[in-house]
Amino acid sequence: MESDSKSTLMNSAIAIVELKTWTPDVAAIETGTNQLPWSVETLKSCFSNGYQNFGLYRDNGQQLLGFIIVHQPMPDEWTIMNVVVSSAFQRQGLGEALVRHVCELAQNKHASVFLEVRESNQPAIALYTKLGFKTLGRRKGYYPTASGKREDAIVMQN
Ligand SMILES: CC(C)(COP(=O)(O)OP(=O)(O)OC[C@H]1O[C@@H](n2cnc3c(N)ncnc32)[C@H](O)[C@@H]1OP(=O)(O)O)[C@@H](O)C(=O)NCCC(=O)NCCS
Repeated sequence: MESDSKSTLMNSAIAIVELKTWTPDVAAIETGTNQLPWSVETLKSCFSNGYQNFGLYRDNGQQLLGFIIVHQPMPDEWTIMNVVVSSAFQRQGLGEALVRHVCELAQNKHASVFLEVRESNQPAIALYTKLGFKTLGRRKGYYPTASGKREDAIVMQN
């Protein structure tokens, strides 16, 4: 059962919109959701040439609930760099909607979609697996952890 404090999307209009320019709302979601958040500088650097990013809004664009950052170094090779849904709105299909949106766009352009994910990030791995991503391999010790150690990245492709 959902906790009483969890926000509900019932009766809300949801829209996925291309984020053409930087908005601090992205950093607010990132820092509020991730234990080891990307810095504002790193996030901002993804709002430049070679990236296509999307936000998931409700209430006619008034509230950003999540975002996805996609690097497109080549027309047929896209990489999901980050996808985040605000904690209060997780487990309601929004992460899936964002990844599905990007995969559909990629398919239309005959592009493959790649990503790296921490091996401990079982929610994200379950999401990608549900959408048909397959494991290509792993990068040893790719990510730092909160405890100061390193953990492997799982490399996946759709
Ligand atoms: C990963 C993340 C984006 C998923 O977003 P979400 O909106 O909560 O996910 P959805 O509700 O769309 O779930 C879709 C599927 O993902 C999987 N999933 C999502 N959260 C899960 C969880 N906590 N445990 C297990 N599976 C989970 C399930 O397969 C789910 O399908 P189901 O509802 O039919 O079981 C979200 O947990 C998040 O923002 N995490 C922090 C940032 C992060 O780790 N991003 C990934 C970087 S690689």
